[in-house]
Amino acid sequence: MRVAAHDEVMYHIELSRAMIDGAVTAIVPGAPERAKAIAERLDRSRPLADHRGLASYLGYIDNAPVIVQTTGMGGPTLEIVVNELLMLGVRTFLRVGTTGSIQPEVKAGSLVITEGAVRIDGTSDHYAPPAYPAVADLDLTVALRDAARAAGVPHAVGITASSASFYAGQQRFDSGTGWVPRAFRGSLDEWRGLGVLNYEMEAATLFTLARIARARAGCVCAVVAERDASEAVRRDLLDAAVDAAVAVGVDALRRDLVRERG
Ligand code: URA
Repeated sequence: MRVAAHDEVMYHIELSRAMIDGAVTAIVPGAPERAKAIAERLDRSRPLADHRGLASYLGYIDNAPVIVQTTGMGGPTLEIVVNELLMLGVRTFLRVGTTGSIQPEVKAGSLVITEGAVRIDGTSDHYAPPAYPAVADLDLTVALRDAARAAGVPHAVGITASSASFYAGQQRFDSGTGWVPRAFRGSLDEWRGLGVLNYEMEAATLFTLARIARARAGCVCAVVAERDASEAVRRDLLDAAVDAAVAVGVDALRRDLVRERG
């Protein structure tokens, strides 16, 4: 594993070790506007870079430096971002994202904390054979669950399906192509029957890369679609649900830091 030189600027995220005050923790949302909202919850936060829409910030949790780095949507851009953060020395990654529930009891506005991810993300196939599991870090997952409990936010903990596509791979027919190939027709019911909680697009790639690099990763997502009822995203609940996911994510990192400091 390569560690970047102190002043070496990473090609895509345009960060160097000189810019991050020794941070070994990163919060990695997909969306740049969510990155800004997360940064605003940290102490003394400031913008770092904004290349190709991959906006980043540096802030502090209990005086520990934390990078907030946008990943973009899906495995391919996350793979780039996570590799570059690893080269800067990041060892803990927390994804704060959005998701569609496929279980009727997991409601829009609640949170899903991912223990493990079904690897239909595509990108992780470039790193590991299909039998390799995509598993979250145990301590981070427990910290997320404790933070959600403490905040009184409804949440479910379990398995997520990470899809390489938002439409076909998540069995959405209400799309530009209107096409869901045979391989994915009926797949939503199958994942539901197997106890999978939700669809999103990045957790499996993140968990696979983190394990290979002997780093740690966790994931909390705000539920913004109830796929048993509709293919649509519930824009009316989006802001409140994302706010709850951000608050739980930041509190989980604080708890994890307290645990590590003993
Ligand atoms: N993100 C996804 O990947 N799917 C959804 O349904 C909602 C958010």
